[in-house]
Parts: sequence; C-alpha cells; structure tokens
Amino acid sequence: MAANWSPDSWTRAEARQMPHYPDAGALDAACDQLAKYPPLVFAGEARNLTGHLAKAVTGEAFLLQGGDCAESFLEHSANNIRDTFRVILQMAVVLTYASKLPVIKLGRMAGQFAKPRSTDMETIDGVELPSYRGDIVNDIAFDDAARQPDPQRMIRAYSQSAATLNLLRAFAQGGYANLHQVHRWTHDFMGRSPWARKYAETADRIGEALEFMAACGIDPETVPQLAQTDFYTSHEALLLRYEQALTRQDSLTGDWYDTSAHFLWIGDRTRFEGSAHVEYLRGIGNPIGMKCGPSLEPDALLRLLDTLNPARVPGRMTLITRYGHDKIEAGLPRLVRAVMREGHPVVWSCDPMHGNVVKTSTGYKTRPFDRILAEVRGFFAVHRAEGSLAGGIHTEMTGQNVTECTGGAMDVTQMDLADRYHTHCDPRLNAGQSIELAFLLAEMLNQELKERRKAA
Ligand code: PEP
Ligand code: CO
Repeated sequence: MAANWSPDSWTRAEARQMPHYPDAGALDAACDQLAKYPPLVFAGEARNLTGHLAKAVTGEAFLLQGGDCAESFLEHSANNIRDTFRVILQMAVVLTYASKLPVIKLGRMAGQFAKPRSTDMETIDGVELPSYRGDIVNDIAFDDAARQPDPQRMIRAYSQSAATLNLLRAFAQGGYANLHQVHRWTHDFMGRSPWARKYAETADRIGEALEFMAACGIDPETVPQLAQTDFYTSHEALLLRYEQALTRQDSLTGDWYDTSAHFLWIGDRTRFEGSAHVEYLRGIGNPIGMKCGPSLEPDALLRLLDTLNPARVPGRMTLITRYGHDKIEAGLPRLVRAVMREGHPVVWSCDPMHGNVVKTSTGYKTRPFDRILAEVRGFFAVHRAEGSLAGGIHTEMTGQNVTECTGGAMDVTQMDLADRYHTHCDPRLNAGQSIELAFLLAEMLNQELKERRKAA
C-alpha cells in the first residue's frame, strides 16, 4: 500500500482542471451519496487487467483502447453502446489474427465524462461563461444556468455508467461477442469499402482459420470461450471528488481501488509533478495510464514513474504517447531511452488522436486520417529503432457513421464535416475509419513481429 496516502490526500496538492461548484454543501451531499453506492467494478477484475497488461509489457499481448472522447447524457442509448462495442471487437479480431497475440479490449466507456479544458472561461460575442467540462460537470449549451457546475450530474453519470457497464458485461459474456459473428460483421464492412481488395486477403484468411477450427470441432458451441470475451472499462481520472467517492478498500487485500472503472489514466494537462491527480492515482491498486505529450521531459517522466509505480509492478503503468505526426520521431526516442535505461516495466501505447487536431477554415475541429496513420507509423518506427515494444493503441472512435475526421477510404472531406458532426468534444474516427486503422495496424504489427522473430 502507498505510504502516507489516503483517498483524500490529493486535496493537499495542486488540483488543476477542477470545476468551481457554487454550492459546497450540495457538492458534499452528492459525494456522500456516491460513497454509499455500490462499486461499479471489483478489485479482482482490475488485478486481472493488470495481469493482462503485464503481457503487453513483454510483447505477449497488445492493448486496444478506444471509445468516445466524451460520453454524453443525450446520446446514451443501447444502440450507441452496442455499435462502439462492436467496432472495438471487429478491430480486435483483425489485430489478433495479424499478430497472433491476445488483444486486451479496453473501452473509453462507462465513465468517460470529464474533460480538461485549455481555459476556465469561454467567451462568445462578449459573453463570458464557465467552459464546458463534460456532462458530469455542466451542460454544453452556452447559457448561464447550463454552464454552472451541478454536483447532481455526478449521480447521473454514475447511473449512466452502471447501465452502460451492465450492457457491456451482457454483450461480452452473453453470446453477442461470438467470434464467427464478429468476423461476419467485418466481412460485411469489407463489401462496402473501396479498399476492400487491399484487406480481403486478411479477412479471407481469418475466415479460413475459423472454418479450419470448426472442422476440428473447435467452435463457439464446443468451446464457449469463443462466444465470450473480456472487456474492460477506462476513463480519465479527472474529477477527483467523483473518483474519491468511488474509492473503496478491497476486503481481500486491504488495498484501495478506484471502483469507477478498471483502468484510469492521467491526462497530459494534469500529469505535472506535485499534481493532485498524480497524488490520487499513486494510491489506488488499479492499472493506470499516463498521457505523455511533447512537454514531458525524460527526467520528469522517470520521477513520475517512481512515484506511481515504485514497486515496478509489470502491467501497472501504461504510457500513452500523443506527440503529433510531425513530432513523434524527434520527441519519443528520449522517453523510450530513459525508461529502458532505468528498467521501468511499461506498456507503450500510441494515441494518434490528441496531437493531430486541426481547425478547418469553416471552424470545425478535425483530425486528418493520414496524419493519424502517420503518427502510428512513426510510433512503430521509433520503437523498432530503439529496440522497445509497441504495445498498444488508444483511439477516439464511435460505432456511428459520423463525419468528424477527414480522409479514410470513404474520404470524408472538409465539406462533409457539417453533415454528421456529433461529438461533444474531439473529432472521432467513425466505424469505417476505425476498422481501416485496424487493418493498417495489423500490417505494421505483423511486420514488427516478423522482424522480432528474425532477430530472436
Ligand atoms: C483525452 O484523452 O481525451 C485527452 C484530453 O487527452 P490528452 O490528455 O492527451 O490531451
Ligand atoms: Co479527446
């Protein structure tokens, strides 16, 4: 257990990105209520995830983390949850086949509500109001009442997370995740993609492998594992009063866990030394992630790793790098070398989304698909050159047919952005772009594994 730590020890450190609740009493009342509610996940599940992630440290598994930039109250529906779950599964099948590695499926779902912002206030036409900080804090509508932080929103976020998690557990265990079914969906997608031929070979080989297994008597009826999967949840641990209220002591080990999700990460804006967010996360037993952007110096990273993972438990730490397509090859090697030199066990995961946001002349925030791919390529190239392992991918995506990122095989143009731009925060990959990314990732991963085997 972490020394000198308690679920509220973060309150004595510098907490950035916190909303200013107008009514402190109402905030305390909501947190007291949350503290009495049942945990959303169990400590044992979080420990299992750490065990899976330990495999990604040594190249025996690959991490696939994806979902919304920000979940919203308005778009909460069974169809949305199902479609995002489905795309993550489709990506996982493609990646598993190409790499022959188990793929760890981790949703940015069932709790990904709070958003860091670059300014506390937003000004439109001379009117200044608090910035939107995610549905768990306030409302996106630009009017005074809507923008006031409301603690009751934490209760609603908890309920929505519980309902989402309940459905995800049913999908993962109740037969919906049947491997044959998932492959059939991917095949359907192929039929509609203009690049279908490029991917047809991989898809056909997956089909053949499944037929071969079935002929040997290995199918979802005889081997129930093929009809089920493990699916974990994650979000940025940003709103610390909420996370604290869901922090519980595990009756088996006596350790503290944040039971709001299996995996929590620290954002690029809150990972500074002396941060309240770092203080909070160092004391919980869950596996944790940390975003690493261009401003992070190798020495600071090493000190943060010593704070967050002093026992050097493999699978405890995932470093999620987010440099931007034009910065990764210059910036990432310094971090990789420092971490390798000190022998810290980490999963290296690539977030090709947050360093690649551009604003169009029509005022939309977008991410060009070719830049996203360029960052992924750069990520693999750096790890190959440094002799470290590319262990995972972190994306913002949705199962809906949105038009938020430009490019891809279906070629979303800048003009198309106006059609179906629905995100509450950052632009997400749509279903087609996500699966396309998986096929391209599969190629890179395959190449890397071939080289690794050659070198062995
Ligand atoms: C995010 O993942 O939504 C996010 C805000 O990322 P970052 O902290 O890397 O900017
Ligand atoms: Co985002």
